[in-house]
Amino acid sequence: MIFTSSTRDIPDASEMPRHVAIIMDGNGRWAKKRFLPRIAGHKRGVESVRSMVKACIDRGVEYLTVFAFSSENWRRPEDEVSFLMKLFISVLEAEIGKLNENGVRLKVVGDLSRFEPHLVELIQRGEALTAGNDRLTLTVAANYGGRWDIVQAVNRLSAEHPERAGNYVEADLAPYLSMAYAPEPDLFIRTGGEERISNFLLWQLAYTELYFTEQLWPAFDAAALDAAIASYRGRERRFGRTSQQLERPGSPAANDA
Ligand code: IPE
Ligand code: IPE
Ligand code: MG
Repeated sequence: MIFTSSTRDIPDASEMPRHVAIIMDGNGRWAKKRFLPRIAGHKRGVESVRSMVKACIDRGVEYLTVFAFSSENWRRPEDEVSFLMKLFISVLEAEIGKLNENGVRLKVVGDLSRFEPHLVELIQRGEALTAGNDRLTLTVAANYGGRWDIVQAVNRLSAEHPERAGNYVEADLAPYLSMAYAPEPDLFIRTGGEERISNFLLWQLAYTELYFTEQLWPAFDAAALDAAIASYRGRERRFGRTSQQLERPGSPAANDA
């Protein structure tokens, strides 16, 4: 399935975001406030992912994408990185069956080559088991970087189509990006108070509505998601057009947009 590109066409903007992408930040600070080790925050953060999956299904959100580990997170202390890898493994082991029962399709995007074989195998098994599900597509971005994604796409495109090198257009690259199976995110949420993209979906966020909240990820719940969706509903998604064009949807200018 080919999805509308926000820069080449005007995507349908429905009341409920079809795709929500989240930077789950603030686990360490959540733990610190409770005099707990940072890893306790990561553990608790998994609960928030679980509740977000349910909340998205209940609300009819079709795609939920969560940033679990960035290509820059390897710079963290070794023991924290190794805890995060173990946590990823244990969560996959415990949750894949339940995700499948709930009709969730699991996808993992990122450079898997740095992960240990057991983790890669679990990811592949989980993706294969849930491939036919269509209630919600849950994408976990792990060892993901927006720049990595664009570079790997360019490399694959140029290897497959060397004859067009020098003349590539957006539509040529799009199918090689790691989230080509999903529409572009409608709503981006970053918890934890920082207002930056941190090398998340650089290409795909071109026209996404951005929402930043001070809430720390382990404390982010369904009510917090509803607040983000309410903010999203108040936005005017113009995709380059003027407000007047949106007010008169039948007008010729809006039609040619
Ligand atoms: C986000 O929480 C989780 C990961 C990056 C893995 P942090 O660990 O960044 O928490 P803070 O930002 O230090 O509070
Ligand atoms: C972004 O959080 C990455 C994830 C949530 C996985 P960070 O906490 O690593 O981001 P920076 O370093 O503060 O930008
Ligand atoms: Mg952080």
